[in-house]
Amino acid sequence: MTSASFVMRTYDKLALVTPHYVFMKHTTNTTEEMITLGEKIAKKLNPGDIILLQGELGAGKTTMAKGIAKGLGISDEIVSPTFTIMNVYNLENSKQTTVNRLVHIDTYRLESEDNLIEIGVEDYLGEQDTVTIIEWPEKIKELLANKKTIEISIVKQQGDSREITITPDIL
Ligand SMILES: Nc1ncnc2c1ncn2[C@@H]1O[C@H](COP(=O)(O)OP(=O)(O)OP(=O)(O)O)[C@@H](O)[C@H]1O
Ligand SMILES: [Mg+2]
Repeated sequence: MTSASFVMRTYDKLALVTPHYVFMKHTTNTTEEMITLGEKIAKKLNPGDIILLQGELGAGKTTMAKGIAKGLGISDEIVSPTFTIMNVYNLENSKQTTVNRLVHIDTYRLESEDNLIEIGVEDYLGEQDTVTIIEWPEKIKELLANKKTIEISIVKQQGDSREITITPDIL
């Protein structure tokens, strides 16, 4: 049996009982629940982590970023970096975490990866005191090549429900 077919068979069996466990899916039904999930994720982060937030327009990527920032102890209001591309929040003297800085990037309006390099992204990406969160990471594939990342995918369900997959699942 190939390892792929073994995985499939194992999944077939487990899916009958615990499909959420197998796929490690998380569900939120409100904005507040997404913030709370972000806070929980923040508690598991290490300095240097790069989080890729994937999901369609309005999926809740920025909302998740707000939760992570809250969990890291950032009291500043987190605003979407759609136009500024990159926002930097410093946590100097924070007692809650060894993370000194949160960098929040949104590449939605980015024209080329070079433009992100020009505004200094390489000073932060993967740096040992920095957590980076990236919305629309698929637009900066080259910058992310060979970088260890945590992928968070958000899929809109009916109403305000969202299904979240974290790979690897750090919760
Ligand atoms: N369960 C939920 N999780 C996250 N957001 C939710 C949820 N239910 C409702 N919302 C609402 O959906 C919207 C999500 O917007 P948000 O800016 O977080 O999305 P986004 O993925 O960052 O969008 P964009 O692609 O434009 O950057 C917000 O208005 C939020 O209040
Ligand atoms: Mg957003």
